[in-house]
Amino acid sequence: MTSSLPSIAVFDSGIGGHNVYHKLSQLLPKHNILYLSDSDHVPYGDLSSEQIKTCFLNSLQRLKSYPIQLLVVACYTVSTLSISTPYPTITVLDAALNLLQMKSSKRLAIMGTQSTIKSGKITTPSPSTELFPIACPELVPLIEHNDHHLAEQRVKYYGELFKSMEIDSVLLACTHYSHLLPLMQRHWSSQIDIIDASETCALQVGEYVNSLVLKS
Ligand code: DGL
Repeated sequence: MTSSLPSIAVFDSGIGGHNVYHKLSQLLPKHNILYLSDSDHVPYGDLSSEQIKTCFLNSLQRLKSYPIQLLVVACYTVSTLSISTPYPTITVLDAALNLLQMKSSKRLAIMGTQSTIKSGKITTPSPSTELFPIACPELVPLIEHNDHHLAEQRVKYYGELFKSMEIDSVLLACTHYSHLLPLMQRHWSSQIDIIDASETCALQVGEYVNSLVLKS
């Protein structure tokens, strides 16, 4: 990395942002990318908005000694609270909202943490899309603890639920849930479009960073 290239930090409360981080590392191999999490306080999803804001801003203090020029918030729970940061910031929520515009879902389930679902920030991309917000507070701890057996049971449960609700698309509005994609693909109807904005988020960051490099 040369000093003219931006330094980037990817934040999530825990391991949820790993997918965004890995995709970004592939897209921008010459850049220094730092992964920041808050393992002392994960899961954020059950905390109050004030507590989440405090935990997040305290975590950002740890970036002070780095020349960070871009923060990627790979956490819906934080993104949906629209917290100001001292850095130019791109969020996975923005990426997801863009991605939803390109879909033609009729019955769209939004899986997220309590806080994300309560925020109501993920709105219907078109009048012909009906939203079904579903809080899944049990999933982040299972993923953090790598409890494959229980996670698989819950994935099967949601598969049955979506079938009974005639859901055609599911937005994974928590980056942790990307870790369950192989289980979802195994146990859910192949008719369900599983929407994961991790890659879109990484692509948006890549475009932004490349535009900076071209300008400099
Ligand atoms: N990956 C975070 C998100 O996207 C998890 C939130 C949590 O810590 O509960 O919302």
